[in-house]
Amino acid sequence: MKELVQTLVETYGPSGQEGRVRRLIEERIGGVAQVRTDALGNLIAFKQGSGGGCKVMVAAHMDEIGLIITHVDEKGFLRFARIGGVSPATLIGGRVRFAQGALGVIAWEKWLRSNDKPEWKELFIDVGATSPKDSPVGVGDVGAFERSFAEMGDRLVAKAMDDRIGCAIALQTLLEMESSPNDVYFVFTVQEEVGTRGAAVSAFGLEPDVAVAVDVTGTGDTPEAHPMAVSLGAGPAIKIMDSGMLTHPAVKEWMIGAAEGLGIPHQLEVLELGSTDARAMQLSRSGVPAGCLSVPCRYIHTPSEVVDYRDVQGAVALLKKMVSEAVPAEVTAAKRQTV
Ligand code: CO
Ligand code: ZN
Repeated sequence: MKELVQTLVETYGPSGQEGRVRRLIEERIGGVAQVRTDALGNLIAFKQGSGGGCKVMVAAHMDEIGLIITHVDEKGFLRFARIGGVSPATLIGGRVRFAQGALGVIAWEKWLRSNDKPEWKELFIDVGATSPKDSPVGVGDVGAFERSFAEMGDRLVAKAMDDRIGCAIALQTLLEMESSPNDVYFVFTVQEEVGTRGAAVSAFGLEPDVAVAVDVTGTGDTPEAHPMAVSLGAGPAIKIMDSGMLTHPAVKEWMIGAAEGLGIPHQLEVLELGSTDARAMQLSRSGVPAGCLSVPCRYIHTPSEVVDYRDVQGAVALLKKMVSEAVPAEVTAAKRQTV
């Protein structure tokens, strides 16, 4: 599965530019599920159940954060805005790769002259151009962090672990799952980083009985970290709350029960800042019971996001068990009431 993770994280795919990631996933699905792409670019892979189950939606987002060019000056230097939650502190000396293949170096006007935090307007990108005419990129072009995949023991390091690791987990689950009573829709969503837009329209279209997002979450296990009871290597995390949602209590019990049934390490997650596709799915139409299977991740939204491979494998096992068995009646009870 590491090869799959490496291929996914090294593929270019900022929000709105998910085509390459989508083609890659579609290729790997092969004929194992029915596949279609909706109007926004979400890839929907359908695994029909044997009957008697419910309609389960699993969402993992294909997009990553990035930078978009806003201006090219007379000397060929580029100014930019961000796509998604990019912090200027992660950028100086970093590199971005544009869709056409051009590379850019991110620099700060005040480098070596100031101890302040860089401001957005003081940052620029150097693509080796000397004028707008010979610049390989222009206004509207989008760059993604350029950083290759690496391993540090059990730890995997890459840009875009958020959320290609979720895509890898969903895809691996789809490929490994055998029989299930449930109709399972694996949705590889677009534009999560700019406001869970892909999940919103796909959940509306699919009208699932229950929905689960697979995404990264923060940890509290680094020096001086904000207290958070999630650590790398302690197993996949079951979200209880984040700043956009409260997990449906029955979904929480379902997830915990599945992890206990497997006897695998798992942890409970309360994330104080950030949210996932689960929020959009939960608020779809008249409401969908929703939860989130989280992969603990350090340094989220930097070019070196770190996860633990054992947590990834645990997440596949847990998701596979959840989608392959009958979903507890408590989860779908509210949706089934028609009066
Ligand atoms: Co993110
Ligand atoms: Zn994410």
